[in-house]
Amino acid sequence: MADEQVRIETIQPRYAAALEQLQRDCFPTLADEELMRAEHFLNHCRLFAAGNFVALVGERVIGLGSGFLIDFDFDAAQHRFQEIIAGGYYRHHDPHGDWYYGGDISVHRDFRRRGVGSRLYAARKSIVQRLNRRGIVAGGLIPGYAGFKTKLSPGEYVDRVVAGDLYDSTLSFQLGRGFNVRGLLKDYIDDEASDNWATLIVWRNPDYQPA
Ligand SMILES: CC(C)(COP(=O)(O)OP(=O)(O)OC[C@H]1O[C@@H](n2cnc3c(N)ncnc32)[C@H](O)[C@@H]1OP(=O)(O)O)[C@@H](O)C(=O)NCCC(=O)NCCS
Repeated sequence: MADEQVRIETIQPRYAAALEQLQRDCFPTLADEELMRAEHFLNHCRLFAAGNFVALVGERVIGLGSGFLIDFDFDAAQHRFQEIIAGGYYRHHDPHGDWYYGGDISVHRDFRRRGVGSRLYAARKSIVQRLNRRGIVAGGLIPGYAGFKTKLSPGEYVDRVVAGDLYDSTLSFQLGRGFNVRGLLKDYIDDEASDNWATLIVWRNPDYQPA
């Protein structure tokens, strides 16, 4: 399928049920309570539709890039996924927040490695630039870590991915999209593939102008 058939658009309530199914398809190792449901997506539409993106082929939903604005405190950076996303509802969204917190990025496996994830990131970057915010921050999963956890600490694993010695399907993708790793988040999420760890990843808006 040619890439031009995939459209990136802002979220609409009519996509909520399909997005719930996409979560189940894209995150098979996540605990059930970590997955977002239709009611969460409806709230994203109400709170910040302009910053939440879907990838579509026709009316089929094949990708999601969701998030919200927040004054992220890097001096108290440790947090859990469910806390910061307010159980999936994104209720900490602050229209004046300095940072875009990336709640979820996912592409259906049948459409991966065709640039759809990159286009979803481009959409996020573009709203961050349009709104003149500092950048994007997120907890990035490390789904390749489970296979190494008896040999490497999570820090060693991440260092090796950053050095390019190991490829992680999520972290390597994010590094390739201009993100840097700022640290590790312990007990971030109930995900056996990442052994519950995540990386704190940051993309800085090069055009940000302080007020
Ligand atoms: C991470 C994820 C969103 C990436 O989505 P994607 O659509 O495959 O992303 P892209 O196609 O833009 O990029 C993926 C890779 O394919 C490459 N690629 C892009 N277009 C390509 C093409 N036409 N042909 C071959 N490779 C291509 C990219 O360069 C990238 O490789 P790199 O990471 O080595 O640079 C997707 O793998 C996913 O949904 N994973 C499961 C959910 C997940 O873990 N989400 C992140 C939670 S933190």
